[in-house]
Parts: sequence; C-alpha cells; structure tokens
Amino acid sequence: MNQPMMEGLRLNVPAYVKHQRLIAWVAEIAALTQARDVYWCDGSQEEYDRLCQQLVDAGTFKKLNPAKRANSYLACSDPSDVARVEDRTFICSQKKEDAGPTNNWMAPAEMRELLQTGDKALFKGAMKGRTLYVVPFSMGPIGSPIAHIGVELSDSPYVAVNMRIMTRMGKAVLDVLGDNGAFVPCVHTVGAPLEAGQADVKWPCNKTKYIVHYPETREIWSYGSGYGGNALLGKKCFALRIASTMGRDQGWLAEHMLILGLTSPEGKKYHFAAAFPSACGKTNFSMLIPPKAFAGWKVTTVGDDIAWIKPGADGRLYAINPEAGYFGVAPGTNTLTNFNCMASLNKDVIFTNVALTDDGDVWWESMTETPPAHLIDWQGKDWTPAIAKETGAKAAHPNARFTVAATNNPALDPDWNNPAGVPIDGFIFGGRRSTTVPLVTEARDWVEGVYMAATMGSETTAAAAGQQGVVRRDPFAMLPFMGYNMADYFQHWLDLGKKLADSGATLPRIFCVNWFRKGADGKFVWPGYGENMRVLKWMLDRVTGSQSGEEHVFGVTPRYEDLNWEGLSFTKEQFDVATRIDKADWAAELKLHDELFAQLAYHLPAELPATKAKIEQRLAAE
Ligand code: GTP
Ligand code: SPV
Ligand code: MN
Repeated sequence: MNQPMMEGLRLNVPAYVKHQRLIAWVAEIAALTQARDVYWCDGSQEEYDRLCQQLVDAGTFKKLNPAKRANSYLACSDPSDVARVEDRTFICSQKKEDAGPTNNWMAPAEMRELLQTGDKALFKGAMKGRTLYVVPFSMGPIGSPIAHIGVELSDSPYVAVNMRIMTRMGKAVLDVLGDNGAFVPCVHTVGAPLEAGQADVKWPCNKTKYIVHYPETREIWSYGSGYGGNALLGKKCFALRIASTMGRDQGWLAEHMLILGLTSPEGKKYHFAAAFPSACGKTNFSMLIPPKAFAGWKVTTVGDDIAWIKPGADGRLYAINPEAGYFGVAPGTNTLTNFNCMASLNKDVIFTNVALTDDGDVWWESMTETPPAHLIDWQGKDWTPAIAKETGAKAAHPNARFTVAATNNPALDPDWNNPAGVPIDGFIFGGRRSTTVPLVTEARDWVEGVYMAATMGSETTAAAAGQQGVVRRDPFAMLPFMGYNMADYFQHWLDLGKKLADSGATLPRIFCVNWFRKGADGKFVWPGYGENMRVLKWMLDRVTGSQSGEEHVFGVTPRYEDLNWEGLSFTKEQFDVATRIDKADWAAELKLHDELFAQLAYHLPAELPATKAKIEQRLAAE
C-alpha cells in the first residue's frame, strides 16, 4: 500500500519514495498543519504545466499572450506581500551571541512553542483546506559532492512552480536521497487556512510573518508570506543563512555573490565573484555585454545571486552557483541595459508584480522608452502615463521580479553546471552609494579587503520591506542573510585567507566598486551596465599584473588614463566626480565603521580595528 492513511489524510506517497524518515516527517507536518491532502512533486514538465493551469484557474496566474511570451505567466501578489521581511526574520541558535547583534533572535524552545507546540501555535491547522506540496530540491548539481538537498513542504503551488525553475527539483532528488540520505527540512505555509466552503483569494498570506532558521538542527520554518525570499526556502534561507553556518563549520563560504566568467580575445578565461546588496546590480553585472571597444572579450554567467565557495586541492577557491534559475528584478531591465536578460525572458517565465499590457504581454518601468498608452498595473488598476504623472503610480512594483531558468540565458557559462565549480581570480564588493565611495578601489591585501567588505555601506532598496534609500552598513552584502554572528563571519574570512596564504596559494584579489555615485545634478555620474566592463578590465589587469594604479588612503585606484575610454565620452572631470575621495566625507564614513565595530565588539577580529587605525593615519597625513 502506497497510500497510508493518517487521521483520515491521504499521504499519497509515490512508489519511488523509499525514505521512511522523510515520509514520517511529511506525515507529522501534514498532521500538525491539517493539510487537506498531500502532493509529491516529481518535477516533470507535465506537472509544471498542470500546476500553472491550476494557478490560472485559481486567479493567481494570468497566462500571457503566447504570441508575445510563450508559456509565461503573471502573478500579482497581495499588496502587503511584496518583498523580504527582515524584521520578521529570525536566527534561533541556542545561544543569542551565536546569532549576533545583527540578527533577530529568539530561543529555539520559545520559537517552537510559538510555531509548533503551543496551544495557539501558528502552524497548527495552518494548511486547513489546502494541499501540502512536497518539494524535494537540490542546491547545486544533483548528486554533486558539493550539492546539498532540501525538502520544502509548502501549501503554495506558486512556491512549487517557482522552485522547479529556481532549483533542481523533483523525483531525481529523491532518487539521490535514497532511503536514508540527509536533507534540510523546510516548512512553509502562507498562513491562510480555508474553512469548509470558504472561497480562496488569489494571493493568500497572513499579516503575521515569521521567517525562522534553527542553525544547529538546520531547519527552516516560514509562516505568512508567499513571496520570493520569504517563501522559496532554497534561496536565502537555505543557500545563505543555513549554508553560511555549514560553511563556518566545514571551512567554506556561502555568499550573496554573482559569479561571472571573463574570456579574453586570446581565449584565456578568468572568473570573478561579486557581492552587491539586493537590487544593486548582481544580475546585470553577471550578464554584461562588453562595449565595442572590447571586441573579442566575453562575459558569461555562472550565477547571478548566490555562490558557494570552497578551497580546492590546488589551494585556489572554487565557486559554484547552487541555484538553477534567476529570481531577478524587472524594473530598470531593458535591451540597452541588459540585452541578455531580456533575451532570457522571451519564454517560460513567471513574472510577479509587473504590469499587464492590453495585448496580454508584460511591462515595467523603463522596459521601453515610451510606455504603453494603457496598462493594468500590478495592483490590478488602470494605468496610463497621465495617471502616472498625476499620482506617481508605478506600473510595476519596484521589487517586481521574473523567475526564469538559467538555461534561458544566452550568456550562460559552459561551466555553470560544473560540480567542481570555477576558480575565482577576484572578489568584488559594491554598494549603492550616491556619495563618498569611489568607482573602484583595490585592497592592498586580504585583510584590507576583508575590512572593506566588512564595513561596506549601501542605500536600502525595495527588495526588503521598510524605508528605502537609507545608508546602512551591509557587511559583505550579507546583512540580511547571515546565519550566525557577523563578527565570527569576519573571522572566518580572515582565517580562510590565512590558511590559503600559508599553503602557498595565490589569494583572489579584492576590489570595491560603486556604480551609483551621483553628480551635483542628482543623476548617476557613471553610465554603468555594459560600461562596467571598463572597470572590470582594469581589475583583470590588476590580477594579471599588467596595470598599475595609484596608492590611496585605502587601497589602489586607477588614474583616468588607466581605463580604456574608447567609444565612451566620459571626461576627466566626470571621472573625478566618480572617483573623488573626500577627506571630510571619509572622516564621517569612518565614524560609521566605528559604530559597526562597536555593535560587533564581541568577537570582532583585532585585525579590523587595526586596519582602520592605519587608514586613519593615512587620511590624517594626506
Ligand atoms: P537581487 O536579486 O535583489 O539580489 O539584486 P541584484 O543585485 O541582482 O540587482 P539587479 O542586477 O537586478 O539590479 C537591480 C537594479 O539596479 C535594476 O533596476 C537595475 O537596472 C539597476 N542596475 C543594475 N546595474 C546597474 C548599473 O551599473 N548602474 C545603474 N545605474 N543601475 C544599475
Ligand atoms: C534579494 O532580495 O536579494 C533577492 C530576492 O535576491 S529574494 O529571493 O526575495 O531574496
Ligand atoms: Mn539577492
């Protein structure tokens, strides 16, 4: 019998599932949440199409005009459920200090009572009237020694279909898991039980939200949201928060980084990994098309959001992209800023919170120079350029996203699926800073690089709920994604560098960039996007040793004549605005570093304040 009955509930276990612990856990969660029934995802195309049709029938999805976007859908969320919720995200380690001062913390027992065991526990009965989807997934190539498996139990079919694009999902994962393999259990509910006869809404969710991680037992529990990083638990919850703690224990890194390949006209290939905070340009940089002046140079995408990085036998650092798809920002994307991305979006896409055109296609701010005369905006309202001008209404939500398979990307790197990963030549860290931070700097050594990454600031974006455009420290672009104490994480980076250096390995160079500095007119002074190739080439030249630069207060920066300006009119004066290091601004900036270090004083590596002291001495001597 493959249809055991649990309190009248059909578990529907397929014959190929042999993992008794998994089956028992599914039974336990189904009983806790009182799900109506259980469905095991096999990951097939037939299943994807069927679930998408079901979402269309439920009103969650609108099927787009197949002549415009083949096999693509638009979902518009509840207006309250549009981004990650950082203030509702918890790291429930046994000890508070292991979560550290940058994370919300609650004792595991207390959180479990709130979610699972208490009289009014939120997960009790949370899936009433809904199907529990069993979503087995692999982060990293299926069966690869560096991949890790998770199983998400979710009452959201939107989650199931998005997970099929974002991860390697389905039966093949259970085959690898066998009858006793290890997996990270991930439980997700939108927190909107349906009583008998109650009609569903198109985007069920709950005002109350909890995004909870137990790092010691490696579990994830997510309540109340159906959106992105709150609900697709393989992504930020597993591949960053839980994986960062695995990396700490096992000597590797889980980072909020894109990975790109850079191939020279002679066919020599290099790799960079770059950490920019949410909505600060990772997807764009990973798909960059070099300007004409760089004929023969090619950028290819290994990953656009997350990197798992491990030392190889040769002492170099190798990076894999644990994901299989992109959950990328739509607004701002067009054929001029990101041609490869637009080409990725022609078919097989799920769009979330963009606008619908009258001919059944999608649109978002700056997708085309001239907006359509009429749209249905992401909240289902009529939108015209006149209405937008009058009310400021956005056609698409600023954090509107597309979900698309990596294999749709014409610039996909041939090694994107290589279980061994790609060797990293340089790390790049960058924030969104209208002032203060220069276009590019290279750290003099690993410790100075760790300092620069640790103290990085960035203006907040629509990727997270809350105020936007406020500068905050976002160490390593990992502030919202750290699974343990941030100071211990700094130490982990320092230790790894020391270990590799001691083994005689050449460490990757570390760079800092800022594409977002503004001029006196309030506009971005740097053209960005494809033109970032000019900076990337300088960084590569530093790696290969063929370029010099000027030593500065912190690190090395290029002179105007060190960059290739062919085909771009960018004057020395503009360059000065983009690169200026202003003494007063930096004195103020260093005070913010102090505040961060004071916050992280417990376990803060001594190398970091020591590096700061040296910078201050140089600044005073300027
Ligand atoms: P997450 O998916 O949230 O982690 O974001 P991301 O880092 O991948 O950001 P993405 O590449 O999607 O870019 C976010 C926004 O910044 C988009 O609106 C882009 O158009 C814009 N952007 C990206 N690169 C540049 C750049 O070089 N210059 C400027 N001015 N804007 C950029
Ligand atoms: C981010 O916010 O950094 C994202 C989108 O990449 S989400 O998956 O929602 O976290
Ligand atoms: Mn991200």
